[in-house]
Amino acid sequence: MKKRVVLCILIIALLGFSAFIFSKKMFKADDNNALFVNKAKKRNEIINDYINSLDNFIEKIDFNKAVEVVSKENDRFNVSLFDYETGKNVDYKSLIKDLDGFYKKVKELLYLKYPKFIADVLINNENNVYYFKDNELVIYYYDYVIEPSPREELLLHVNYNEIKDYLNIDVKLDENYMNEDGSIIDNNKKIIAITFDDGPGSYTSSLIDILNNNKVKATFFMLGKNIANYRDVVKKASDSKMEIAYHSYAHKSFKRQKIEEIISELQESDNILKSITGEGFKYIRPPYGAINQEIKDNLNYPFILWSVDTMDWRYKDIDYLYNYTLENIKDGSIILFHDIHKTSVETIERLLPELYVEGYQVVTISQMASVFNQKLDNHQSYRYFAR
Ligand code: NI
Repeated sequence: MKKRVVLCILIIALLGFSAFIFSKKMFKADDNNALFVNKAKKRNEIINDYINSLDNFIEKIDFNKAVEVVSKENDRFNVSLFDYETGKNVDYKSLIKDLDGFYKKVKELLYLKYPKFIADVLINNENNVYYFKDNELVIYYYDYVIEPSPREELLLHVNYNEIKDYLNIDVKLDENYMNEDGSIIDNNKKIIAITFDDGPGSYTSSLIDILNNNKVKATFFMLGKNIANYRDVVKKASDSKMEIAYHSYAHKSFKRQKIEEIISELQESDNILKSITGEGFKYIRPPYGAINQEIKDNLNYPFILWSVDTMDWRYKDIDYLYNYTLENIKDGSIILFHDIHKTSVETIERLLPELYVEGYQVVTISQMASVFNQKLDNHQSYRYFAR
């Protein structure tokens, strides 16, 4: 008798369990949002009335306890959340259970996507619209004041995989997703390479900070004797994924040196560099750009010259250098600066945000060569790249 009761309960439990699985599958099949909706309860009519009243309705998404209604007015998203049963407005924060964890993650992703001068403003911006979609949250930023002013719309796509632990809603996770990363090269944008000669020097470390803050990679043509004197800075450049190339040992013109002497200084400098970063020089730029066939034939590197010479060693004037650079660059330019002058570093600090809003991407020589499908051969010289 007792055994039968237990068996009955077991069968009922199993039936119930499979019915649960079945209904969940059925639900998933007819709702791509895959967000759990309590179908037993009726959505409040107030919500339907609100949707019908909208001129520019975009979509409606049902969460466990809330309904999100999205519309657009004057190019601005308008997202409203309603309590499913009562039809009362609820705050988007009700979909987030750990606000601190959530904001921390958003901050991290914001700085991954945008240069610091933009992320610093957005992280404190108040007028944001949170748009919860079926597999991501999109944050639209409005009414910010950023100088220089970005022309593109500023927004952040936050995949639910990144914030699932901080949300109150059942979310759809992606097997493969990629966060937006401002350092990923966009082949459709204009691309330039900024190069720094004669360092490293006393301003190079702060220059690397400026480059990093702007999500920019540059190429440094270093002097062998300076590498030995600024080992920490060389390591920092390498750790920041900057490219390191050779600009002679002590800035003597190659044309005034014997080939044997050039080669032995190059090898000595290359060994010092390898002892710091584990990697040798990528390219050579001879001092003063002075080069001849004998030099090219005897050194097993590509030679990288430049197409835009800022003459920053002569014009120590930020306004001049800033304007000269903006007026003379184009897609494929290789720009010459010197990181041993304070004015040059200050010019770069002002220039990089402007280049960003002008739609330029600043990359290393090898990144640019790769985007432009330009193979860099040893014994050949390059002044710029063309698509
Ligand atoms: Ni030089």
